[in-house]
Amino acid sequence: MLYQGQAFRVEMLSEGIINVVFDLKDQSANVFNALALKELNEALATVKKQSGVQGLLFSSGKDGFVFGADITEFLQHFKKTEEEMKSWLLSINAIFSGYEDLPYPSVAAINGFALGGGFEIALTMDYRIAGSKAQVGLPETKLGIIPGWGGTVRLPRLIGADHAIDWVASGKYNKADEALKLGAVDGVVDDAKTFEAALTFLHRAIKGDVDWKARRAQKTSPLRLDKIESMMTFEGSKAFVAGMSGPHYPAPVAAIESMQQGARKTRDEAITIEAGIFAKMAKTSTAECLVQVFLGDQYLKKVAKKLTRDSTPTKHAAVLGAGIMGGGIAYQSASSGVGVHMKDITPGQLELGMNEAAKLLNKLVEIKKMTPDKMAKVIASITPTLSYADFKACDFVVEAVVENEKVKKAVLAETEAALPDNAVLASNTSTISITKLSEGVKRPENFIGMHFFNPVHKMPLVEIIRGKKSSDAAIARGVQYAAQMGKTPIVVNDCPGFLVNRVLFPYFNGFLFLLEDGADFQKVDKVMEKWGWPMGPAYLLDVVGIDTGHHASAIMAAEFPDRMGFKGVNALQVMYEQKRFGQKNNKGFYEYELDKKGKPKKVVTEAAYSIVKPLIKQTAALSDEDIVYRMMLPMLIESARCLEEKIVASPVEVDMGLLLGLGFPPFRAGIFKWADMVGLEKLQSEAKKWQHLGKLYEFTPTMLEMMKTNQKYHAGGAQ
Ligand SMILES: NC(=O)c1ccc[n+]([C@@H]2O[C@H](COP(=O)([O-])OP(=O)(O)OC[C@H]3O[C@@H](n4cnc5c(N)ncnc54)[C@H](O)[C@@H]3O)[C@@H](O)[C@H]2O)c1
Repeated sequence: MLYQGQAFRVEMLSEGIINVVFDLKDQSANVFNALALKELNEALATVKKQSGVQGLLFSSGKDGFVFGADITEFLQHFKKTEEEMKSWLLSINAIFSGYEDLPYPSVAAINGFALGGGFEIALTMDYRIAGSKAQVGLPETKLGIIPGWGGTVRLPRLIGADHAIDWVASGKYNKADEALKLGAVDGVVDDAKTFEAALTFLHRAIKGDVDWKARRAQKTSPLRLDKIESMMTFEGSKAFVAGMSGPHYPAPVAAIESMQQGARKTRDEAITIEAGIFAKMAKTSTAECLVQVFLGDQYLKKVAKKLTRDSTPTKHAAVLGAGIMGGGIAYQSASSGVGVHMKDITPGQLELGMNEAAKLLNKLVEIKKMTPDKMAKVIASITPTLSYADFKACDFVVEAVVENEKVKKAVLAETEAALPDNAVLASNTSTISITKLSEGVKRPENFIGMHFFNPVHKMPLVEIIRGKKSSDAAIARGVQYAAQMGKTPIVVNDCPGFLVNRVLFPYFNGFLFLLEDGADFQKVDKVMEKWGWPMGPAYLLDVVGIDTGHHASAIMAAEFPDRMGFKGVNALQVMYEQKRFGQKNNKGFYEYELDKKGKPKKVVTEAAYSIVKPLIKQTAALSDEDIVYRMMLPMLIESARCLEEKIVASPVEVDMGLLLGLGFPPFRAGIFKWADMVGLEKLQSEAKKWQHLGKLYEFTPTMLEMMKTNQKYHAGGAQ
């Protein structure tokens, strides 16, 4: 052994071949953390000292290659000044280029994921041999930054500017075969033979069967593009990518800019350019927020893992109700490999539910994401039924019948009687208290809430609701079943609206008050969409359904009259009374026509304006900024209440809940991250302007205390 560290070891194989092995101690996967980077340098120094070396292999000691840089260290790095960040990057690039410049051929053995910095180190080698299941890519732009260890320099020189732009701007992972086609790897072999094949390839290079010097020259010299070609390639893609990613996500365009500026330069000049652009991107709030979201997601996974340590996965489930939600849950369960009985009271509904599942599966087959065989298997694992006859074989049931307490209680009692004693029973109610519903069952400890979002197959969040009597074991089973379905579970204590709807309705109230002050609903939508929401509040109410919104709003108002009540008539109520139910009957705030693809397209008509107009109490001068604060402050204050009342355990869970359940803009990372960034003092001064509207705009005492003592919701990391 020539070198043995905690992350790297260097060994001399026979015949002058050096093997640099990445094997990060006590971790299941390799990532470049500070320690690994330090040792990468020490390993290089060791390698350089050896005489008689003929070639170098770079390999992994894990069951996988290298996932990239350690993202948990990113937020610390982002605190550096641009200049500090640039010199940090250049010092690491010097190590990377040091490997590339060794006076003999080199090969990377890619035995799994090689992402970000993991792919960048492989790119410094002359050749790359990948296992058939390996995937390579540069996903940095998804975190709001660009590749910073030579990725935008070496990749275009290796696979051409067009493909490199596609890979880097999209951040996608690429399968080994695709990488081989484009020349990003030089061979794909059986996974178990990756190392052996890389060694064989290295011998060929040593023998001169392949011209490693020419390959190296290609990677280190300017791109072969003349000025006009360069203009056309880069300018065209920048315009296209800017249109796709939008103004809040500058990194994909910046990555192309880095490739463009570096294209006609030497490697080292191009790397300096890349470092400068990286440093600029790392200082954007988008990068900070996207990293925060990544860490938040990791945190949720950690929490779920801990909760389910002793629990058992669901083997066979049942869903009650074959409607929009029941059908969606059955589909999701079956396509995730958990067979399901779907019970309804009418055969017609069962047929509708099955047809809906078949439609979704067909789409997957059409786009080749599923084979017809698998589709048949999934369909066969949904058993439509009108009876409880087979329920003894079910260990988990999700109730998704009509939103009516009496009906639900009766259905839950019947179901419980048909189930084995240890089965978990969950309700997908959106508005009824889980503790109240548990009054109707004999084993309330086995009863929980499981709140899915519509459409189930698309929405990633499931709120797992703990009623007063729900046991930890039942909660763990709910968390596990949600994870089995590929969803992200967040545990929430029982309260009206749980977390997501509880903070959504104050936001809607903010909107209804704006209308009373003469705001144009179309303008409010535009302002909020520009702020980053996928749709503004009027459009969202139309999509959710004005009737559904009206029903839930009445419940929330009864539960929290000081914040969610409304004196007099509001626009939601009038729309409801006039049977403008939104998209479902083609008229609400907007009216809907089918576009050429058969999708509902919103159009603006006078009708909605004439309904809203009589409700205007005064015409206030409202800037776009006012509109944002009037919409967002009620959501923030209610979120703070949820945290203070321990409805949810941590700010990061609230932030992630709103991202995954409501589509809160990822580049803002969540309501509390937004509050941290704007600052509680500024928010309080904005809230004060609207205090005549009541508690909706009143900070809680804890918020005031946090403001006075300069505290943040996210103290440092994501937790
Ligand atoms: N639609 C949403 O956006 C949404 C989102 C989250 C939660 N939810 C909740 O999910 C539940 C279902 O909502 P939905 O939108 O799917 O309603 P839906 O009206 O589309 O479906 C309800 C289904 O339940 C069936 N049903 C009624 N009584 C039954 C019984 N005794 N046994 C078995 N089936 C019975 C009906 O025939 C119907 O097929 C409600 O509690 C709702 O609040 C809905």
